[in-house]
Amino acid sequence: MTSTPLRVGLLGAGTVGREVARALLARGAELTAADGSPLELAGIAVRDVERARAAGLPGDLLTDAPAHLVASADTDVIVELMGGDEPARTLIAAALDAGKGVVTANKHVLAHHGEELEAVARRAGAALRFEASVGGGIPVLGPLATELAGNRISAVRGIVNGTTNYILTAMTDAGRDYGDVLAEAQAAGYAEADPSGDVEGHDAVNKVVILARLAFGVWLAPADVTTIGTDGPGAGSPGITGVGSADIAAAAAAGLVVKLIAEARRDDEAIVAAVLPTAVPAESAFGRTAGVLNRIEIEADPVGTVAFSGPGAGGPATSSAVLGDLIAIARGLGSTWAGLPPARGAR
Ligand code: NAP
Ligand code: HSE
Repeated sequence: MTSTPLRVGLLGAGTVGREVARALLARGAELTAADGSPLELAGIAVRDVERARAAGLPGDLLTDAPAHLVASADTDVIVELMGGDEPARTLIAAALDAGKGVVTANKHVLAHHGEELEAVARRAGAALRFEASVGGGIPVLGPLATELAGNRISAVRGIVNGTTNYILTAMTDAGRDYGDVLAEAQAAGYAEADPSGDVEGHDAVNKVVILARLAFGVWLAPADVTTIGTDGPGAGSPGITGVGSADIAAAAAAGLVVKLIAEARRDDEAIVAAVLPTAVPAESAFGRTAGVLNRIEIEADPVGTVAFSGPGAGGPATSSAVLGDLIAIARGLGSTWAGLPPARGAR
């Protein structure tokens, strides 16, 4: 344990970032591990400084220049919670290149640039942690890389998008209208800035790419993940956009419910992945996974099947995973992939 604080530069103070900022400001001492450095919030980058100040964030920490926070000699670790592709990709790479640890919840940037970012992190010897990028508050990537490291994994499958599960649950249980429920999920902070990423399945694709990296040691191309089924509910449309009340009623008549299921599995030595609306038994573990909850099952040898479930989206739940990663960096625990070998192309 060292008393020198780890100075945190926070990029983004929206749904997730503001929860992380509040926790660091209100509970900093409590978040200090017995064998880790204390955490100190050193700066917060947003686009609209006045709006963030009005929301109660301390004015002296706010800036609209995230690159300055990354380059600053006054930050040791960067937490990226802005979302999207650029400038997030460049900022994460710059922080890693400068030897700073990075925590991110940005599944898009990891799924599309993970191979490059892993290579930068390994070359620079800097930690890249991203537990919050899959399953919101559910610990699943860490266990894949650590407690399950002695297994050969054959499949990972799950409900990994809270927004679509919230919508499908409300359509199934209450016959609610798709558009009304989507608006509710947006208001609750579950949906992406552009919710087409949720309902068309792209967010779940990004998550299955990240799960596959930890489970199988490869960064799949998101474009190679199937999102349009040829039969079953919603066939012919991406994600849940083609699932209508007729599909839900037909499933119910057979004792089934429709869920958006993401899966990556070994097929001989190839890794194949898909994100498709799937009718599952209503009384199964996936069938009972309701609302914003997520559930991820891992099939592995010798352990058999293990499952992780819990809140899959929302600011408070997601901040739990971000804070856990920050504490891990303060304890010197390295990257999310822990002792796993470099992914193909990331040496
Ligand atoms: P959000 O509410 O839209 O917040 C984004 C924040 O980033 C805002 O403070 C925004 O500032 C700031 N920002 C965006 N672009 C910026 C730029 N170019 N320069 C400076 N600041 C910028 O997003 P969120 O829901 O918190 O999500 C953040 C990340 O976590 C995303 O990658 C998302 O996919 C991921 N995630 C979200 C959840 C969830 O449940 N919400 C769960 C898991 C992972 P302004 O407010 O001033 O525009
Ligand atoms: N939009 C995402 C979801 C946020 O609904 O699951 C959590 O990653």
